[in-house]
Amino acid sequence: MSKNDLILPKDFPKLKNDTFLRAARGEDTEHVPVWCMRQAGRYLPEFREWREGKDFFETCRSPEICCELTLQPLRRFPLDAAIIFSDILVVPQAMGMNVQMLTGKGPTFTEPLKEPEDLERLQAKVDVQKELGYVFKAITLTRHKLEGKVPLIGFTGAPWTLMSYMIEGGGSVTQSKAKRWLYRHPEASHMLLKMLADVIVEYLLGQVTAGAQALQVFESHAGILGPAQFKEFSLPYLRDIARRVKDRLKEAGQDVPMIVFAKDAHYGLEDLSESHYEVVGLDWTIDPQSARERTGGKVSLQGNMDPCALYAPKERISEIVKKMVAGFGTKGYIANLGHGLYPDMEPENVGAFVEAVHQHSKLLIKQM
Ligand code: CP3
Repeated sequence: MSKNDLILPKDFPKLKNDTFLRAARGEDTEHVPVWCMRQAGRYLPEFREWREGKDFFETCRSPEICCELTLQPLRRFPLDAAIIFSDILVVPQAMGMNVQMLTGKGPTFTEPLKEPEDLERLQAKVDVQKELGYVFKAITLTRHKLEGKVPLIGFTGAPWTLMSYMIEGGGSVTQSKAKRWLYRHPEASHMLLKMLADVIVEYLLGQVTAGAQALQVFESHAGILGPAQFKEFSLPYLRDIARRVKDRLKEAGQDVPMIVFAKDAHYGLEDLSESHYEVVGLDWTIDPQSARERTGGKVSLQGNMDPCALYAPKERISEIVKKMVAGFGTKGYIANLGHGLYPDMEPENVGAFVEAVHQHSKLLIKQM
C-alpha cells in the first residue's frame, strides 16, 4: 500500500473484532468488550518516549505521531477498541483561542473569556476541514494502520465542559468563574454553548467521514452543575448534538454508535438514557445494578471501575472486575474505568484488568 492510500478515507481494512460495536448496540457478544479512557497515555514508557521534548498540541497536530500513540496500548493489551489520540481542547483552539499544555499545570488558556463581550473574539463559523483537518488525517491514517484489529473511537468535549475551560482558563476545583456566567449571564452562556454545539456537530461528522467507527462525547465537568443547571446548560446540548449528528449520518446512509460520558451526573442518568446515545458512560460512584435499573434497558452501559482500583494487586483487580461484570450483566455492556488512567499506574495492572474482563465475562456468557 502506498503512502497516498493511507490518507484517503476509503478501502479501510475489514473489521475483525466488532465486539465493542455489537455491545454498544445491545447485541450478543462472546465476551464483554473493554477499553480504557486515556489508554494512550503517560503510564506507558513508550508513550513518554514519543512525547518527550515535544509540545503537547504540536503532537496533536501530527497525524503520524497521533497514530503511533493510539496504537501503542493495542500492542500491549487485547483491548476491544482504540480511541484516537487527541484532546478536547482542539475545539476552542479552532474557534480562535490560544491554549498551551504546561508541564505540572495542565491546559492553560492565555486569554480566557471574561465577560460576554469576549464572545466576539470567537470564530462562530469554523471551517472544520481547515482548522481540525489534522485530526481527520490522524483518524484516517490510524484506521488504515489498525488493519481492522478493533474499531476506532473518535471524540469531542461537550459544550459545557469546553465552555468551563474557556472561561476558567484551565483546571479549576470550583468552576466558579464559569458557573458565575451561568447565573449572571445565562443568555450569553446559551449563546456560547450553542456556538460550541454547532462546531462540535461538524467536527464529529468530519471524524466519521475520516473513519471514526464510534463517537464519545466527554461532559467531564457535568458533576459541578447539579440537577437544575445540568438540565438547562448541559443536557439540551448533549441531546441536540446526538440528534443532529444522527440525522445527518442517516441522510448519508451511515450510522455509528454514540457514547455520552457525563462524569458525576447521577441525577441525569434517566435523562441521559433518553438522549439519542446508544451508550451511557458511568463514573465509579454509582453501583452497576442501580445504573441498570435507572436506565431500564434503554441503553448500553460503559464503565465504571474506580481507576484507583488499578493500584490493587492483580488478584484483587480480578475480584473487583468479576463483581462489576456480574453487576452490569454481560449484554449491552462495555467495560471501562470510571475515568482515565493516571500516569503512575502500572501497565501490567492495566493488562490484568483487560484480561479479567475477558475471562470473567466469557465464563458468565457460557453459563447462560
Ligand atoms: O483516552 C485516550 O487515550 C485518548 C486521548 C485523550 C486525551 N485527552 C489525551 C491526553 C482524550 C480522550 C482526552 C480528553 C480530555 N482532555 C478530557 C476529557 C476526559 C477527561 O479526562 O475528563 C479533558 C478534560 C482534557 C483536557 C486535558 N488534556 C487535561 C485536563 C489534561 C491533563 C493535563 C496534565 O498535566 O495531566 C490533558 C492532557 C492530555 N490529554 C494528556 C493525554 C494523554 C496527558 C499529557 C501529555 O501527554 O503530555
